[in-house]
Amino acid sequence: MNTIEELDKKLSEPSDRLLQDLADLDGDVMILGVGGKMGPSLAALAQRTFQQNGSNKKVYGVSRFSDKSHKKELESQGIVTITADILKEKELQALPDVKYVIYLVGTKFGTSGNEHYAWVMNSYLPGRVAEKYRNSNIVVFSTGNVYPLVHVSTGGSMETGPTGPVGEYAQSCLGRERVFEYFSKTCNTPVLMYRLNYAIDLRYGVLLEVARSVYNEEPIDLKTGYANVIWQGDANEIALRCLKHCNVPPTVLNVTGPETISIRWLAHQFGALMDTPPKFLNEEEPTALLSNASKAHRMFGYPGVTLQQMIEWTTDWVRHDRDTLDKPTHFQQREGKF
Ligand SMILES: NC(=O)c1ccc[n+]([C@@H]2O[C@H](COP(=O)([O-])OP(=O)(O)OC[C@H]3O[C@@H](n4cnc5c(N)ncnc54)[C@H](OP(=O)(O)O)[C@@H]3O)[C@@H](O)[C@H]2O)c1
Repeated sequence: MNTIEELDKKLSEPSDRLLQDLADLDGDVMILGVGGKMGPSLAALAQRTFQQNGSNKKVYGVSRFSDKSHKKELESQGIVTITADILKEKELQALPDVKYVIYLVGTKFGTSGNEHYAWVMNSYLPGRVAEKYRNSNIVVFSTGNVYPLVHVSTGGSMETGPTGPVGEYAQSCLGRERVFEYFSKTCNTPVLMYRLNYAIDLRYGVLLEVARSVYNEEPIDLKTGYANVIWQGDANEIALRCLKHCNVPPTVLNVTGPETISIRWLAHQFGALMDTPPKFLNEEEPTALLSNASKAHRMFGYPGVTLQQMIEWTTDWVRHDRDTLDKPTHFQQREGKF
């Protein structure tokens, strides 16, 4: 994986199981909030899937396009882009109706001290969108942050277990789920709550952050000693396949990789590949934000890109000082302040 182009191509390569699953999808797909970290590769994957299947279905990508380059890039692939601030009612209502919606809009970083904005974006706006798209199937991007920190011995929170969001960001995300659930039940709208824990590509994510610390010989704080990650291409594939699993009441699904990754172990893996011993601060606390995604693996199979593969690609990316997004995950945060 040597260039951004190669990475983008890999992230948008449809697997056989995705091609098969979406072959008979009977409507267009709209991605709301396409302009962030995941949206561009998700839209590209959907578009390539339809193209390779010979389907005439359209992919719409909606965002404010704060980063204008995404708009051009998406249009060059045949994705229909719409520039809209969907917090503005007129702009939301002007969007076309579609049968399938993937909802990525949300806010996390900078919400400490700006809590009112987190609640409007993560809890109020979902109600506006759920009403507008009450006749669609909606995959709602949510987060593992709706769960409490759990002991590492539990194997991670399950969909059937209790929620327990820590801090206002996480509470507002649970608000997003509850509001979508209300409209699902009252308007009979099929919904799936997609609770994601740390997607990674080589430009951002937990692996990049740990690898960079090892490479730069900076100490790694071990208090949050465990995490789950999933390759962004696999997370995107699951999101698209989830379009066929929306239900009333909503299906709830944890989406992440199969491993409970020890950060200490991960740093040692990078250390061995980089010939640089990792440095650490503090000791592991017994709890962490961990999800158990065995239900998703039962439904869709294991992710296509393995943890060892991600470690090798990330090592190479860091050693060659390739482009990154400068969007830290703050996965070490234990008080829910972002
Ligand atoms: N990446 C992860 O590992 C991860 C983990 C757990 C949960 N999630 C959740 O999954 C979703 C997608 O992840 P992501 O990392 O791609 O998020 P992201 O980078 O925050 O992307 C969301 C995008 O939504 C757009 N948006 C925000 N406000 C909008 C508005 N008023 N109208 C139209 N578009 C708006 C923004 O693009 P513009 O500025 O162009 O409008 C923003 O970049 C998010 O809700 C996130 O919280 C992600």
